[in-house]
Amino acid sequence: MPDESSFSGVALVTGAAGTGIGAAVALAFAEAGCQRIAITDVNEELLDQTKSKIKSTASNLEVLAVAGDISSSDFAETFVNKVVSSFGRIDYAVNCAGIMGNNQISTETTLDDFDKINNVNYRGCWLSSRAELNAMTKQDPLPNHDSRRPPQRGSIVNIASQLGIVGRPACSAYSASKAAVMAMTRGDAIDYSEHHIRVNCICPGIIDTPMTTSTEERKQLLKPAIDIAPMRRMGLPQEVADCALFLCSSKASFVQGAALVVDGGYVIN
Ligand SMILES: NC(=O)c1ccc[n+]([C@@H]2O[C@H](COP(=O)([O-])OP(=O)(O)OC[C@H]3O[C@@H](n4cnc5c(N)ncnc54)[C@H](O)[C@@H]3O)[C@@H](O)[C@H]2O)c1
Repeated sequence: MPDESSFSGVALVTGAAGTGIGAAVALAFAEAGCQRIAITDVNEELLDQTKSKIKSTASNLEVLAVAGDISSSDFAETFVNKVVSSFGRIDYAVNCAGIMGNNQISTETTLDDFDKINNVNYRGCWLSSRAELNAMTKQDPLPNHDSRRPPQRGSIVNIASQLGIVGRPACSAYSASKAAVMAMTRGDAIDYSEHHIRVNCICPGIIDTPMTTSTEERKQLLKPAIDIAPMRRMGLPQEVADCALFLCSSKASFVQGAALVVDGGYVIN
């Protein structure tokens, strides 16, 4: 019988355009056999590219791509409603949409920068997960791959950051936006356990994506941070995606409210 470990349900990924973590997560779902995948991003053109890449992995795969701004008050709800009306349910939601910080200390940070960072990274993640939870609570659970474990009604993975755990110079607004995602994850994990919904987050270290490598200036800025981590390299978006799929699967059935650090050892050093 199809079950949660084979991704027989419906996947939703935010921030899925381009070559970043969200696109890697969406592709990983397709490669793992998930046949109904919904993706969103503010960048419509690059979102369509992700859609084409996903569709090229299997002929019978359905992809719903809807562009929009996750920080706007009603987009997440509209998108989630479209996913439910197209695919009937949402089983795995991975909230990846995010922006980098302004690389300024607090006294140099404008209110506009502060609001922008928090509106996308925290508010956008909250709006997304709130809409996903609302849909998940209304659906029947899928059977677990192991009949001794409870069925799962849904699993959400929020993408936070290693900087939600530790500090770095000139990063307080971004760090705080990611610490908020971690705290929200724990709170939702407590509140939705009774619904058989799991909510976890991932705290990536420095990952090779457009956010970190699109300009030479960004690469130079991050070099010292890469050298702090014992593994002394950037992670691949696929290495984060694999962890997200594990947390979504019923193999992670007793993992609740966790912050899985995927950082080459940065926070232990
Ligand atoms: N790359 C890293 O080193 C790193 C480290 C820790 C955490 N993260 C987090 O991982 C997530 C993915 O980042 P990434 O590295 O893949 O970067 P990325 O820039 O490649 O991907 C982020 C995506 O989010 C989208 N996005 C931005 N604002 C949006 C909005 N308002 N509405 C909808 N979509 C929006 C972007 O268009 C982009 O496609 C982010 O939350 C980021 O904070 C990244």
